[in-house]
Amino acid sequence: MSTTQEQFRRAMAAFATGVTVITVDDNGRVHGMTANAFTSVSLDPQLVLVCVDHKAQTHAHLTARKRFGINVLSEGQGAISEHYADPDRQPSGAEQAGARFDRTPHGTPVLHGALAYLECRLQDARDAGDHTIFIGEVEDVVVRNGEPLIFFGSEYYGIGKPLN
Ligand SMILES: Cc1cc2nc3c(=O)[nH]c(=O)nc-3n(C[C@H](O)[C@H](O)[C@H](O)COP(=O)(O)O)c2cc1C
Repeated sequence: MSTTQEQFRRAMAAFATGVTVITVDDNGRVHGMTANAFTSVSLDPQLVLVCVDHKAQTHAHLTARKRFGINVLSEGQGAISEHYADPDRQPSGAEQAGARFDRTPHGTPVLHGALAYLECRLQDARDAGDHTIFIGEVEDVVVRNGEPLIFFGSEYYGIGKPLN
């Protein structure tokens, strides 16, 4: 079976996901990137993965810094997702989008108002096609109450009501 990239994209767009912003320290500046190729891998030890395009600036930052944050966006943070997905973004746009950060003791940026935050130490990185699978060991977690931002069919949604 031969599948076009468009068919592959449409199939993946049918898979509704949450949205994260991966944060990494860049010599004292915050570098963020919107990512939904994120999943848990192992409970013991606690491992997660995120897949990052070789061409993304984040790729070089994760490789160099070896510690990163995963911020699970809440429903009201669509503008933040858009900002950190824009390859031509200007640093001044972060504040306009509503992005504000604290720092962990390791210096990793933590996004205000995110539903959950996981601080990760890079454990492994494996190339897979045009992306790299970054596996992180979870060192710290913060969880807040609230509702998530959902990405489906290239649009943002709220969670809606339970079906039962
Ligand atoms: C909802 C959404 C999810 C995304 N998920 C990923 C992802 O998992 N991995 C990835 O490499 N790029 C992903 N992107 C694209 C990056 O956010 C985009 O290329 C960004 O500009 C990369 O920034 P950087 O070059 O500063 O690292 C996603 C974009 C959107 C809108």
